[in-house]
Amino acid sequence: MAYTDEGHAMAEGTWRSRRIRIGDTDYPYYYGIDCVEPILGELAALKADRFVVVTDDTVLALHGPALLPGLRELAPVHVISHAPGESMKTLATMTADIDEVLAAGATRRSVVVAFGGGVPGNLAGVIAALVFRGIRLVHVPTTTTAAMDSVLSLKQAINSRFGKNHIGTYLPPHAVYTDVALMGTLPDVELRSGLCEAAKNCLAIEPAALPTLRRVLAAGDLTSPESLLWLLDMSVSAKTRVTARDAREQNAGLILEYGHTVGHAVELCDHRRDPAAGISHGSAIAFGMVVAAHISHARGWLSAAHVALHEEVVAALGAPTTLPDTISIDDVLDVVAADNKRGYLPAAAPNAVPFVLLRDLGVPAGEVDLPLVPVLLDEVRTALAALRSRQPAGVAADLEPT
Ligand SMILES: NC(=O)c1ccc[n+]([C@@H]2O[C@H](COP(=O)([O-])OP(=O)(O)OC[C@H]3O[C@@H](n4cnc5c(N)ncnc54)[C@H](O)[C@@H]3O)[C@@H](O)[C@H]2O)c1
Repeated sequence: MAYTDEGHAMAEGTWRSRRIRIGDTDYPYYYGIDCVEPILGELAALKADRFVVVTDDTVLALHGPALLPGLRELAPVHVISHAPGESMKTLATMTADIDEVLAAGATRRSVVVAFGGGVPGNLAGVIAALVFRGIRLVHVPTTTTAAMDSVLSLKQAINSRFGKNHIGTYLPPHAVYTDVALMGTLPDVELRSGLCEAAKNCLAIEPAALPTLRRVLAAGDLTSPESLLWLLDMSVSAKTRVTARDAREQNAGLILEYGHTVGHAVELCDHRRDPAAGISHGSAIAFGMVVAAHISHARGWLSAAHVALHEEVVAALGAPTTLPDTISIDDVLDVVAADNKRGYLPAAAPNAVPFVLLRDLGVPAGEVDLPLVPVLLDEVRTALAALRSRQPAGVAADLEPT
């Protein structure tokens, strides 16, 4: 089954391309199903003298055999692979990797291939930006997070010992090539984590696509390549709608922070409780959207039906619609009070934090170029307390899937 809607007419065939415009830069995004061959055709056209593939050991084992033999027919290939996870996004790893790239004989005609999720994607981005002050970077994303979110951004960053994504720069990729069939091996939790961000794009930016999103979710068909292709297409439309005029995601692009204020706080609190089995980033953001919807409803903006729609979408993605008992409201509020969007609204009261709230689906409160409003910590507390102990959400009764 192929999902279409008026806003996102699908091209014929299983391979398509779109131009991603971010600020004054643009690059092609090719995507399809079972399309490693056409990807290799596009990579051949780069006329690289060498490919440096940055990946992780899981992706290398699962999907290296699909990509690397064909790549080696085009040019020498140097593979840099690390154990999966954030631990590779460090200065030490980056420095060692850059030495390796130079020792392997990379030149200005070489191409860095980010092969995997957002983690190797970010590391590859920083390496490509620094070697010879910038060589070509292409992405072959294999997670929903990377394909639907991080490759639609110029932000490339690694972590400092003080926090995430503290060291980095902006670098547009030369191109992105996604084969959604490669995501068929993703663990469910990783698959859904990226889809939560796609759902955020739909609720906050592309409400016209909500009926199709609800159909896809109601069909329980999240892992099919057709569903993934539709979600990817919708995310590209939504995300580039805001980044086209805000390449650095510091003005209109702040809408992409929907759900993130409470989401980040819940993610951090849960991670502190259990670093090994914490809530996924996407699930935390999805819960953050539910909290934001409740605050917005309490202010008389979103309707009860819109709140129910948030909860239906979030529940269908397997994310929590209630605050787990293991997470303390005070702890969440402590993190929220230190949110990194402070400073965007200098006149806000000391007991208030800048928040992305919706006045309506797809309509943020605040200014067009600063979609943030001050929210009192007490408003957040009230919403969290209401969500602490209640029945999980079901389908929004008055918004049946169409
Ligand atoms: N630049 C941006 O704007 C931006 C946006 C979103 C996220 N990010 C960054 O992206 C990172 C998160 O990305 P992620 O969630 O993709 O993490 P990730 O790259 O660590 O991938 C998650 C897990 O999935 C595994 N995996 C990847 N592809 C697979 C496949 N096809 N089959 C089976 N397993 C597979 C990986 O080995 C890893 O264990 C974070 O570091 C975040 O900061 C950046």
